[in-house]
Amino acid sequence: MSQRQLFVTTALPYANGNFHIGHIMEYIQADIWVRYQRMQGHQVDFVGADDTHGAPIMIAAEKAGITPQQFVANIAAGRKPYLDGFHIAFDNWHSTDAPENHELARQIYRDLRDIPASQGGSLIERRTIEQFFDPEKNMFLPDRFIKGECPKCHAQDQYGDNCEVCGAVYAPTDLINPFSALSGAKPELKSSEHFFFKLSDPRCVAFLQNWTQDGKLQPEVANKVKEWFSVRSNPDGTTSEGLGDWDISRDAPYFGIEIPDTAIDGAPAKYFYVWLDAPVGYLASLKNLLDQRGVNYEAYMANPNLEQVHFIGKDIVTFHTLFWPAMLHFSGRKTPDQVNVHGFLTVNNGEKMSKSRGTGLDPLKYLSLGMNPEWLRYYLATKLSARNEDIDFNAEDFMARVNSDLIGKFVNIASRAAGFLTKRFDGKLTPTFDAQGAALLSEIHAAKDSIAHAYDAREYGKAAREIMLLADKVNSYVDQHKPWDLAKDSANNLALHQVCSVLINAFAALSRYLAPILPSLAQAVEAFVGTRMNDWTHTGPVTQIHPYQHLMQRVTPEQLDALFEPPVITEDKSVPGGGSSTAPTLGTDVSSLPPEGAGLALGRPGGESIAPTISIDDFAKIDLRIAQIVNCEAVEGSVKLLRLTLDVGEGKTRNVFSGIASMYKPEDLVGKLTVMVANLAPRKMKFGVSEGMVLAASHADEKAEPGIYVLQPWPGAKPGMRIH
Ligand code: MSP
Ligand code: ZN
Repeated sequence: MSQRQLFVTTALPYANGNFHIGHIMEYIQADIWVRYQRMQGHQVDFVGADDTHGAPIMIAAEKAGITPQQFVANIAAGRKPYLDGFHIAFDNWHSTDAPENHELARQIYRDLRDIPASQGGSLIERRTIEQFFDPEKNMFLPDRFIKGECPKCHAQDQYGDNCEVCGAVYAPTDLINPFSALSGAKPELKSSEHFFFKLSDPRCVAFLQNWTQDGKLQPEVANKVKEWFSVRSNPDGTTSEGLGDWDISRDAPYFGIEIPDTAIDGAPAKYFYVWLDAPVGYLASLKNLLDQRGVNYEAYMANPNLEQVHFIGKDIVTFHTLFWPAMLHFSGRKTPDQVNVHGFLTVNNGEKMSKSRGTGLDPLKYLSLGMNPEWLRYYLATKLSARNEDIDFNAEDFMARVNSDLIGKFVNIASRAAGFLTKRFDGKLTPTFDAQGAALLSEIHAAKDSIAHAYDAREYGKAAREIMLLADKVNSYVDQHKPWDLAKDSANNLALHQVCSVLINAFAALSRYLAPILPSLAQAVEAFVGTRMNDWTHTGPVTQIHPYQHLMQRVTPEQLDALFEPPVITEDKSVPGGGSSTAPTLGTDVSSLPPEGAGLALGRPGGESIAPTISIDDFAKIDLRIAQIVNCEAVEGSVKLLRLTLDVGEGKTRNVFSGIASMYKPEDLVGKLTVMVANLAPRKMKFGVSEGMVLAASHADEKAEPGIYVLQPWPGAKPGMRIH
């Protein structure tokens, strides 16, 4: 086969959080394919990048009190341990905020805008639209940042695009009593000029109808895409025919790339919507790689044999099968050759993968527990196919596949034979074998093409099954010839030598078949048997081995328990009706936390780092008052709580429960002053309604450092005074 030239990418992850196990799955899927192609002698450039732009990242950075550039740089700095840890061998990792991307995105846009009339004219159109605007934040609000009452079921606090309670889909303007999730302000409708990519243009429709149906996509994906060319139902309940135009612009403030020629007459520039420049990041990362090598990007892309291959998840198919190929084609560029869509990974029986307490599978925790990354690679490979299907990580299944199949059937082949060869035959192998052994080895070699085909078609589960079937045959050969029995009588020396030589040759061949999945193990095998593992076509026999060293440990149930054990933090330490403030706990979705300086840090004094920066306006929302404890008593049925009667200068008292019984006797508190949150919504508890909360300090890890200390003002403060 002639050498293929492949340019391979995975979807560019949003730079708003660390990788989760779904990302790692996608990278492993692509990495296995890339390694397989390289073993075939093909040329592969495999690149990724962070997807840095968009309103959510801009807002998260603002909350963290840093620039968006700093924010995404912090995220980028955390990528390497994951990629190295799981043996994911990108040739380059770049950023959509890099200069290459600014330049390429703008160039592609200009090319689309300036299509000459002779070729049908521009595919960019300006149109004025009305959108919700936050008058306090002075910005247009993305749908996700508008909340209100669901027009269908009247649930409160629903997002601008759909209701999480009844599932209704609508436009933000349909919400009842909408408010800005950023400022709480009532949004106003305001008009603004937007730029559209004319996907509905007959040229685009004709091109995409062909492009999406000519074999580049998986059949089930192509079928789904086909539906988008006919009737669509709109969020507002109406329907429209065929493809709609695509709004590619956003108003300032926005973290993104300025659209050329939009900052005219003193007007602020418009920005590309993040999804316009995100896939361009594939090209930017490639260009950056080629620049490092001194290779010309234009020439590289002009190679008619170049194959452009994208690996993506099922949620981003529209972007990759409609917008992206159309953008490329009509700007006069090469379009993708394959868009490989995978399903979603769920963890432990389809539990929706949230990063909240205890669910999910934290990739770094996996590594830090000393769990072998190749267990995960192997396990995911056995589950992956070319189909767009969800797969589940199941802890018991994982342990069974790794321990019984990978180690029990495959790795053990080597350990069963190596000892005899080293001790009895100086590590040398026989050049000839018994008839049955020779037949077994030819059968293994004959499977080469079928396994190769499975890899190329991304049918890794099938490849793994074929390999394990061969391992089964090797094991029954062992059971028939029983080297441990042969070893008892020196008259059987030749037989023992041959049987063990067959086993090691079989093991070497199977290791090579598994090398795309288990690259690190394959390297260790190469050192052990001395034949090349990174060459699919290698056929030379093993002639000499080095002493066997353990290649892979088994997974233990303890490791899996530890992996899925909820993070060690104190129980909800917001003491009912009082006590410490509730700092972010690990129950918070980590991806929404700022990348640095927030969350729980058990090594630090106090046990947690400082919460994200807030504005003075945020602080002003909390009404803190001096309160006098006019009465205090134990709460029957609770060892934790005290009932406080507080005077905050309102002419009436308040009833507040506080979890401080372990530290204070009721009579010691009566008459003392303290500080309370006076505008906290009343909370109904088992023992009555709590009408506020008193402030108290504690360490984040209650067990490591117990104690809770009520705040007391300096002399002179009077009940009812506000704390500023
Ligand atoms: N930034 C966009 C992609 C831009 S590509 C030019 C994005 N980012 S993402 O971080 O949300 O997702 C990145 C990839 O991870 C996507 O392919 C997505 O489908 C995949 N996955 C996200 N969750 C996943 C699982 N639970 N399982 C498998 N893949 C998952 O979308
Ligand atoms: Zn609803």
